[in-house]
Amino acid sequence: MQTMGQALSREKTKKGVVGMADTDEILGIDVGGSGIKGAPVNVQTGELTGERLRIKTPQPATPEAMTDTMAEIAKHFNWKGKIGVGFPAVVKQGVMYTAANVDPSWIGTNGQALIEAKTGCPVSIINDADAAGLAEMRFGAGKGKMGSVMMVTLGTGIGVGYYVDGRLVPNTELGHLIVDGKDIETRASAGVREQKDLSWKKWGKLLTEYFQELERLLWPDLFIIGGGVSDEFDKLAPHIEIHTPMVPAQMLNLAGIVGAALAAEGEAQRETSKSKVAKAKATGGEQG
Ligand code: BGC
Repeated sequence: MQTMGQALSREKTKKGVVGMADTDEILGIDVGGSGIKGAPVNVQTGELTGERLRIKTPQPATPEAMTDTMAEIAKHFNWKGKIGVGFPAVVKQGVMYTAANVDPSWIGTNGQALIEAKTGCPVSIINDADAAGLAEMRFGAGKGKMGSVMMVTLGTGIGVGYYVDGRLVPNTELGHLIVDGKDIETRASAGVREQKDLSWKKWGKLLTEYFQELERLLWPDLFIIGGGVSDEFDKLAPHIEIHTPMVPAQMLNLAGIVGAALAAEGEAQRETSKSKVAKAKATGGEQG
C-alpha cells in the first residue's frame, strides 16, 4: 500500500499537466486568504496525481477575480471532470454566508454556480477546514478515530473541522471564538503570528488560551493541527499546555486540496443515491 510519504514525494517528482483521467480523479482546489492551490487527486488513495499549482489570491479577493483564478487552475490541468473546492467561509448549498478573509461581496454569492459557469465542470464547494478534516479523517491523523476530533487549521484565518464519530458537523466557525474579549483569529492565526513576528513561546501561549477554551466547552478527544505549521509542529507543541492529545496533520498542508476533492466525491455519491431513490420511486421498484 502506498504511504503518505510516498504520495508526497510523488507530488514533488511528477510533472504538471494531466488531462481528465479515470473517474477516481477529482481536481481539488484549496482557497486561502493568501494563495489558491490546486491539484488532481486520486480520491481512492488520497494521492496527488499531478504537481500542485499555487496562485496568489487576487486582491481585492472578489468573487469575479477569485473564480477567474480557480478557472485558470482548471485550465492549467486541462480539467474536464469534477472539481471540489474548499473555501474559507460558511458554505451552504454552494452559497457563502460569511467572508472573514475574502471580499465581503462573497456573502450571498453562489460560488458553486460561478465556478461551474467559468470552468464548465461540475463543482462541489465546502468550508476549507471541513475539507482538510475530511482528508485527515480518511487518510491521515484522524483515520479510524471515533469520538470527537477537531481539525484546527492555522493559516491566514483559524478554521475548525469538527468530526463526531467520523461524521462532519459542518461550518462550526470555532476559529472565531471570543477569547479574552477578542475574536481569537485576530490574535492567534498564523497570519497574525507572521505579521507580529511572534516567537513560538508567545504564539504557544495565545494558542494555549484558545485550546483550553475549546476543551472547556466541547471536551474533544483529539486535536489535529493543520496549515503550514504542521511540518514545524515540534517547535510549537512544547508551548501548548492542554490535556487533550494533539497531533500534526499527516498530510501537511495538502489536506485542504485532498479534502476538497473528497467532498466532491461525497457529493457525487449522494447524487447517485438520490437519483437511484428517484428512479426506484418512479418505477415503484426497490432501491439498488
Ligand atoms: C473563516 C472560516 C475558515 C477559516 C480558515 C476563517 O476566517 O471564517 O470559514 O474555515 O478562516 O480559512
